[in-house]
Amino acid sequence: MSANRPAAVVVLAAGEGTRMKSTTPKVLHALCGRSLVGHVVAASRELSPEHLVVVVGHAREQVSAHLAEIDAEVRTAVQHEQNGTGHAVRMGLEELSDSAVALDGTVIVVCGDTPLLTGETLQRLAAAHADDGNAVTVLSAEVPDATGYGRIVRDDATGAVTAIVEHKDATATQRAIREINSGVFAFDAQLLTDALGKVRTDNSQGEEYLTDVLGILREAGHRVGACVAADHREIVGINNRVQLAEANRLLNDRLLERAMLSGVTVVDPATTWVDVTVTFEPDSLVHPGTQLLGATHLATRAEVGPNSRLTDTAVGQGAVVAFTVAEGAEIGPGASVGPYAYLRPGSRLGAKAKAGTYVEMKNATIGEGTKVPHLSYVGDATIGEHTNIGAASVFVNYDGVNKHHTTIGSHCRTGADNMLVAPVTIGDGAYTAAGSVITKDVPPGSLAVARGQQRNIEGWVARKRPGSAAARAAEAARREDEGQQ
Ligand code: UD1
Ligand code: CA
Repeated sequence: MSANRPAAVVVLAAGEGTRMKSTTPKVLHALCGRSLVGHVVAASRELSPEHLVVVVGHAREQVSAHLAEIDAEVRTAVQHEQNGTGHAVRMGLEELSDSAVALDGTVIVVCGDTPLLTGETLQRLAAAHADDGNAVTVLSAEVPDATGYGRIVRDDATGAVTAIVEHKDATATQRAIREINSGVFAFDAQLLTDALGKVRTDNSQGEEYLTDVLGILREAGHRVGACVAADHREIVGINNRVQLAEANRLLNDRLLERAMLSGVTVVDPATTWVDVTVTFEPDSLVHPGTQLLGATHLATRAEVGPNSRLTDTAVGQGAVVAFTVAEGAEIGPGASVGPYAYLRPGSRLGAKAKAGTYVEMKNATIGEGTKVPHLSYVGDATIGEHTNIGAASVFVNYDGVNKHHTTIGSHCRTGADNMLVAPVTIGDGAYTAAGSVITKDVPPGSLAVARGQQRNIEGWVARKRPGSAAARAAEAARREDEGQQ
């Protein structure tokens, strides 16, 4: 629990984000498995605020629906027209003023498009704000290129923050300042509410600037301060897809670094991509070209990759998964998957089980030590332990209308090239012959043979294809055979 628990966090997310050139609202674009606004909400949650309100405007139905999905406690405030960041915060506070008790304490304002901002930095800002007894504390950063940002203007003599001047409104001297406004603030709730009522729109954009609150409070004799972010990259806002890719890379690096420091071997961080929700145990190993997404978990000594994409998949201790696509799968300890396997939702492999080369599985549970080594489709099936499925077998689960289940017992040996036409059951210890089309249940311990009998028609080639290379070869073979006798 945070020592400086704020009364509210207000997230600004009403802007359109035209530079994304997208039909998807900007704040819903995703990186590392979470939307831009989702990252900001998650970081804000680390402060345990009493209220969390997101100001929505453009595509508000879509954004609100998404917010309800990711965090049931989030409230939304509608800003019908984007009249500026000050106006947006006003809308957010108005939404909260409906609460029975008046806001008292600290209000943190963040932008919905800064996905790299950490809860830790927000904690630092809240702590600095409280320790310095400020009316407002801006999170600032020294950036290499300040173009477009609001500049932090400080008093030459004392170094105290005096104002924030927007790029468009700045003088040449002010534009040379490299300390910028991140757009993140801590405010005293009451003073913020009062000051917002005094913000005017006589600026180059004709908007209510939140940044003007700083000057207003300072002129009224209140303490104004800045907390400089340790890493300026943390506060970058995403405006276009180039910045989205850069942020994705930075966040991915951060996640991999954390994994590596906790004991995970990442052979090639440059080609390994993970979501924030992925978890690892020490001594797991990731080979190049691997994407680990959603709630994927790697147990100790699990080895994944190269060139694999695992979504919501649990990989057991010491399991090996190579060149594989898996979604919603459970891979048991010591199991082996791939190369070139496709595990679809509901694939469950027991300990030391195998889904080998060119094997596709869906809604299938295969027991301990059971192997499906080559070129097969296993759909809607339950297979016991230590059973072997012959190469090139198909679990024929769909009759064009309904899906049906196949059940195979333990210690079975199905032959190569079997069609197992569901619904069908093969008992424990049963065998099936290669090339069989199994349409009826096979009792335990029996051998099922379900294929045409072989018939050899002697001399057919000589009669039907006389003078052909085949006929000559057959004749030569016949003479040689005679000669040997
Ligand atoms: C703002 C700051 C600037 C700072 C920069 C950091 C102001 C006046 N300027 O500039 O000092 O350096 O952020 O990125 O505050 N929004 C709304 N409603 C509005 C306007 C904006 O919800 O009416 C939201 C946007 O969706 C966005 C955030 O507020 O998430 C910032 O708005 P934006 O227009 O990007 O502000 P900047 O001009 O970049
Ligand atoms: Ca911006």
